[in-house]
Amino acid sequence: TKARISIDRTAVVAPIDRRIFGSFVEHLGRCVYDGIYEPGHPTANEDGFRLDVVDLVRELGSTTIRYPGGNFVSGFRWEDSVGPRDKRPVRRDLAWHSLETNQVGVDEFSRWLKLTGSELMMAVNLGTRGIEAALDLLEYCNHPSGTALSDQRIANGTVEPHDIRMWCLGNEMDGPWQTGYMTADDYGKIAARTAQAMKAADRTLELVVCGSSGSGMPTFGDWERTVLEHTYEHVDFISCHAYYQERGGDLASYLASSIDMQYFIETVVATADHVGHKLKSSKKIKLSFDEWNIWYLDEHRESDEVNDEWRYAPRQLEDVYSVADAVVLGNLLITLLKNHDRVASASLAQLVNVIAPIMTEPGGDAWRQTTFFPFSITSRLAKGEVIAPRIEVGTYDTAVYGQAPLVDSVVTVDEGSAAVFLVNRSQTESIEVSIAVDGLGITTIDEAVTLWDDDVYAKNTLAEQDRVGLKALEGAVIRDGVLTVTLPPVSWSALSLS
Ligand code: AHR
Repeated sequence: TKARISIDRTAVVAPIDRRIFGSFVEHLGRCVYDGIYEPGHPTANEDGFRLDVVDLVRELGSTTIRYPGGNFVSGFRWEDSVGPRDKRPVRRDLAWHSLETNQVGVDEFSRWLKLTGSELMMAVNLGTRGIEAALDLLEYCNHPSGTALSDQRIANGTVEPHDIRMWCLGNEMDGPWQTGYMTADDYGKIAARTAQAMKAADRTLELVVCGSSGSGMPTFGDWERTVLEHTYEHVDFISCHAYYQERGGDLASYLASSIDMQYFIETVVATADHVGHKLKSSKKIKLSFDEWNIWYLDEHRESDEVNDEWRYAPRQLEDVYSVADAVVLGNLLITLLKNHDRVASASLAQLVNVIAPIMTEPGGDAWRQTTFFPFSITSRLAKGEVIAPRIEVGTYDTAVYGQAPLVDSVVTVDEGSAAVFLVNRSQTESIEVSIAVDGLGITTIDEAVTLWDDDVYAKNTLAEQDRVGLKALEGAVIRDGVLTVTLPPVSWSALSLS
């Protein structure tokens, strides 16, 4: 099987905004406690943060990090999580039925972000709280000094303001599972008032209003329309959340999950533009795909939701990812990049232990899941401008999406260099792909890697941490201005060129 890819250098989707490589840390399971934070661990610093985890986060290359939830934020009292640690209250977290000790709060987390070189994207609680708490948190975090809450931050040891630019107006407020969930109309009103008040404090903030929790929600589409009718002039982004998993052994459909993500993005863009047109606004709303990943949610519904005890840092949502999962994740990232003109920001949900690329053992090791690799390589190699190439390739049959293209790809181009990201969705065939690169002034392959395995369900575990890793993509050549590569079945590959 063969495929041909052509790159039109002038057909630029968008310059790369590094926020497309964001991630997400929620107070959930062992993401914070016994994840990024474990005071007794041999690598822990004076704040209790594991430096082996910090190293892996840096290698992953995640940029903005959404915090502190997720469903958790809808019951969060931010005041509990600042000030002397021994005075912080232990609370019940209703979202995940856990105990929240508040030993990590916004000040500690900001210090952790300095270690990882990432930026904070903060969510406010619109589930059990509202405008006043949002404004107070904003004042505490961002006001330089000389007011009650900024001086409280300084007294707590953080002299410089956190200067958080992106703020989420609640989380998944369309979901019946959300503490304090609302109708689109009710949410649209509170989100508009909160946004207006926050921008009165600082009109340069970038605000994200909640879109749907998934394209399968019964209110999908109507929710976006109603919420944006209330908030259009006050917000900058609308959020999208999507999780994928293989269902019923249907690997063929699962490998084409990006088709659903593409549909999701196009629908939200069309809805947002429809509202903008109705309101005669020249402004375009951007998409913040602030939760996306693989999540074996159906399985967790049966095992995790045991609500009979209140536990500290329970093992929840600890999916162990396969090669196939990593290929799908790499393809989802290709899709986000291809839509980068409207998807300006995205957060892989989540970062450590909880549906995460990085896993840890208390007192022990930290290691990379299979999904770590496509994310880290894309974040490192994608530079300059995104180009959605033209792909001529055959299709294969899927139960969910009908005929799906066998290959997907995106290209990024910088001055004198380029990167190509490719997925082969075939379960049986290697595919030879030829890509005309002469128009890019490219002559050399600097790096060519692939993620594939004879066993598509191979995983990295505590016992076998390096079972799956990147392999060299053998046989890639540039001849007469044409790059030729052979993609193994069920694989994700990346090449860096100059
Ligand atoms: O990422 C896990 C959970 O998924 C988040 O808390 C919630 O927002 C979503 O439903």
